[in-house]
Amino acid sequence: MDNSAKRVVLIGFMGVGKTTVARHLSSLLGLERADLDYLIEENEQRTIAEIITSDGEGSFRKVETGNLKKLLEERAVPILSLGGGAWTIEENRRMIKQHGYTTVWLESTFEHCWLNIKFSRKERPLAKNKRNARKLFEERQKLYCLADWHFIIRPDFTSFDAARQMAEEIFN
Ligand code: S3P
Repeated sequence: MDNSAKRVVLIGFMGVGKTTVARHLSSLLGLERADLDYLIEENEQRTIAEIITSDGEGSFRKVETGNLKKLLEERAVPILSLGGGAWTIEENRRMIKQHGYTTVWLESTFEHCWLNIKFSRKERPLAKNKRNARKLFEERQKLYCLADWHFIIRPDFTSFDAARQMAEEIFN
């Protein structure tokens, strides 16, 4: 398959670096990208944290699925990054496959993700404390495992290194 026909979606736990790796991948390959959380905030005119805090996670998931559906139907972006919980919803996984995307799980240790969560400016209501975040991390491994590709994020690699390696392995 030539690169113009490839579509990848980056999934994985909060703090693993999906958005940043997608940004580097997009500039390395000169391919358009979209970030679902960013689009949700733009379309809903509220932050993700506001939606989850005031309406609950269940409502957020519906908004997330609606925005993903719209994006997949309207723009076949070759590089897409999702919020960490989007892949846990069966309907989302089905739509992603149906639209011909290859899913890439950015896999890392909990401690690595937690460090990024702790020092990030992004507010994450579902990872308010380490205990809850670890529980979610463990529960989700079996679903992230369903991805087509498993890409290990090494702690000594920068996001740019990871994107370069991914570009070589997937878009070679
Ligand atoms: C979530 C991850 C967040 C965001 C929301 C819920 C999750 O995105 O979508 O706070 O359930 O894992 P990141 O994975 O970019 O942090």
